[in-house]
Amino acid sequence: MTVPPPSLLPALFPNAVPLEPFLDETALQQECVTLPSMPVLWQVQSIDSTNRCLLEWGPRGLPQHFCLVARQQSAGRGRQGRPWVSDAEGSLTFSLWSVFDRSLQELSGLPLVVSLGMVEALHSLGMTCVGVKWPNDLWREGRKVAGVLVETTRLSRGQVGAVIGIGLNVALPPAVQDTFALPLNDLRDEEGLAPARAPVLGRLLNTLIPLLESFAQSGFAPFAKTWMTHCVHRNQPVTLLHPNQTRSQGECVGLSPLGGLILRDLEGESHIYHGGELSLRFGVP
Ligand code: BTN
Repeated sequence: MTVPPPSLLPALFPNAVPLEPFLDETALQQECVTLPSMPVLWQVQSIDSTNRCLLEWGPRGLPQHFCLVARQQSAGRGRQGRPWVSDAEGSLTFSLWSVFDRSLQELSGLPLVVSLGMVEALHSLGMTCVGVKWPNDLWREGRKVAGVLVETTRLSRGQVGAVIGIGLNVALPPAVQDTFALPLNDLRDEEGLAPARAPVLGRLLNTLIPLLESFAQSGFAPFAKTWMTHCVHRNQPVTLLHPNQTRSQGECVGLSPLGGLILRDLEGESHIYHGGELSLRFGVP
């Protein structure tokens, strides 16, 4: 497959503003130590949505694990049709293009693998206060630190193209925090110092890409136990909100082989819930 040269960037992504790179590429590459080769990565100053662009251009032949990182998005997309608001200096927003020989149903565990990889990467950088919240958020001390939006498209020969969009709050100014309905957190330490974004992105890629390859081979089941060890609501009572406003409640006791949440109800019966359209709340009102 031909790798598009960066000079093609304006032609491929007409909405992008490709000024100077805003992340230190050397620091980024130094973190990708265990990858056999550095993924193709383009930085843009501004774009509508990295997910939307890769969903349009991935099927036209982008290389596997192509990464588009944007300093700013004018129409960032969140889960369940919500907008994703980020900050040019305090967020990390990027998307990865990955092609899988798996069915859409088998890919339902993909967002969980991504959230697991992110937690493992951040822990390896010393940020051990971060955990996963089903299905694919990163939480710190009861507030959201990062979100994952996976969008898929069918390709020829039964393959599926997945755009893995990641929005990470590194050091969010209060004005941006106020635009979200739920309170947010970020990666700043007790002294208010935030990690540099380039090494964080490099470490994320270095951790995520091998996990994606392992997921492509073996599916979600081998990851279920480890995911639960990082789960912020493991063995806790939770409520699931369905799109039709109904609720399911129970104790969170594990994950199914496809990444569905297993809740045990008051009668001791277990139920499995799947789907990106569900929202999880802590506790049972
Ligand atoms: C969520 O709602 O929790 C998911 C948020 C995902 C946001 C990221 S930012 C980079 C990528 N591009 C987008 O438009 N959305 C994702």
